[in-house]
Formats: sequence, structure tokens, C-alpha cells
Amino acid sequence: MIVLGICAVVIVVFAITAAMSDKVREAVISSKIYKKGFAVHMNLFSRIHNNAVRKHKEDIFEKLKSSVESVGGGDILEIGAGTGANFEFFPEGSSIIALEPNPHMVPYLRENAEKFPHVQLKNIVPGFAENMDGIPDASVAAVVCTMTLCSVSDVKATLAEIKRVLKPGGYFYFLEHVADEPETWRNSFQRRFDNQWKYLGDGCSCSRETWTHLDNAGFSTVSYRKFDLKELTVLCYLIRPHLAGHAIK
Ligand SMILES: C[S@@+](CC[C@H](N)C(=O)[O-])C[C@H]1O[C@@H](n2cnc3c(N)ncnc32)[C@H](O)[C@@H]1O
Repeated sequence: MIVLGICAVVIVVFAITAAMSDKVREAVISSKIYKKGFAVHMNLFSRIHNNAVRKHKEDIFEKLKSSVESVGGGDILEIGAGTGANFEFFPEGSSIIALEPNPHMVPYLRENAEKFPHVQLKNIVPGFAENMDGIPDASVAAVVCTMTLCSVSDVKATLAEIKRVLKPGGYFYFLEHVADEPETWRNSFQRRFDNQWKYLGDGCSCSRETWTHLDNAGFSTVSYRKFDLKELTVLCYLIRPHLAGHAIK
């Protein structure tokens, strides 16, 4: 009975949100109360996600220290740093510039910085990745971005900005949920429910073919692998397909 009730509520919510226009969606997810609620949600969800993805994060960040040293050292810029879910994975002595547009994430960011004192949170920059005016050209040793390329409004502009701010030879590390392979059941569900998913994930798209943008962004090297993050529960069915790797300027 309870399960049927929950299913009915989910179907009604999905039907209503599907019928709403993009303008209404933008108004909802831009509201202060939504942004505040999303920060609370991310503070919980990022722990669940970290547990599921731990091995993959450890793998992709393994080279972070040596890649920073290879360009003469410097700051690591994290885009869409959220609540600071990656701090525990950064190598000892990392100096982090956190770019984050949602001000309600900031208390969690600071809290996590205190919890993981092996990293230094040098600066929190409010803003969007599509236009990182405050960050000079070729100024950062590495860029990190997890679960955020799904949310930016312009992936092409974001990748161009990442290339601009990276020192030559600098690494861009990413771990993202992405569209499943075409012709799969999940891919068709991702497309069908993309609009509703945006309400759950602060504008996040669950059907983005992020690898296409990475391949075409003009990095000298792009290396990634796709995997199904089976450790996520059935509630996260639409965002189980993941992509992780690095690109070099
Ligand atoms: C799903 S959360 C991921 C947070 C964190 N990176 C993690 O892995 O837990 C997406 C984050 O990207 C931020 N974000 C959304 N749009 C953005 C944009 N255009 N530029 C930079 N960050 C953005 C959100 O505020 C949020 O903190």
C-alpha cells in the first residue's frame, strides 16, 4: 500500500513537472529556497556517491600530485566544488580554488576544508564555469570537475574556459555521470525524463553525451573510460552510467 502510494506521488510529480515550461523550471530552481535545499541534499548525496565511486576517484586523482609538479606547481581549481566532496581525495599540500555559484554550499565547503586539513582551501570564487573572468589565463596547475558538466548550461564554453585557465601541460580531471549508450532502455528513459530530472538535480541533465564535448574541445590528450556505477541504488538508475578520466592542455 505504502509503495503504491509512493509510486502514485512520483507519477503525479513527474506528470506535473513534465508539463511545466522551461521558464517555470528556471524560476523554481533559481529560487533561494531551492538552492538552499539543494545544498542540504548535496551534503548528504555526495557522501553516498563518494562511497559508491571511491575506487574510481582514487584512480583518477592518483596522478594529481605529479601532474601539478610537472607544470611547476600551483593551485588546483575545482569547478562546481559543491560541498567539498573531493577534499578527502586531494593529495597532501594541495592548494584549492573552489569555484561555486551556489552560496549555500559555502558553509559545507568550509566545514569539509576543516575536516581535511591536509588540503588548503585558498579561495572560494562565486561564479559560473562558462565565464571564469576572475581567474587569469594559464594560472592554475590543474582543474578538477566532478558531477558538474551535467549541470553547466554550456559545456563547450566551460571546456574552453578550463583550457584558458590551465597552465600549458596542465591536467583537467573529471568524473561525471553521462548518457547511457544509444539504443539502450536506460538511454531512452534518460531522454524521456531529462526535464523532470532537472528539478531533482538543480538543472542537471541525465542524458548528456559529455564525451563528445571532451573529444572536440581541443585538448592535446583526452583519456577516459565509461563505467556503470552499479553501487548506486535503483533510485539513481538514470545516473549510473559514468565517465572518468583526464585531459591535458
Ligand atoms: C551535482 S553538484 C556536484 C558537486 C561536487 N562537485 C560533487 O562532486 O559532489 C553540481 C555542482 O555544480 C554547481 N554548478 C551548477 N552550475 C554550474 C556552473 N555553470 N558553473 C559552475 N558550477 C556550477 C552546483 O552549484 C553544484 O555545486
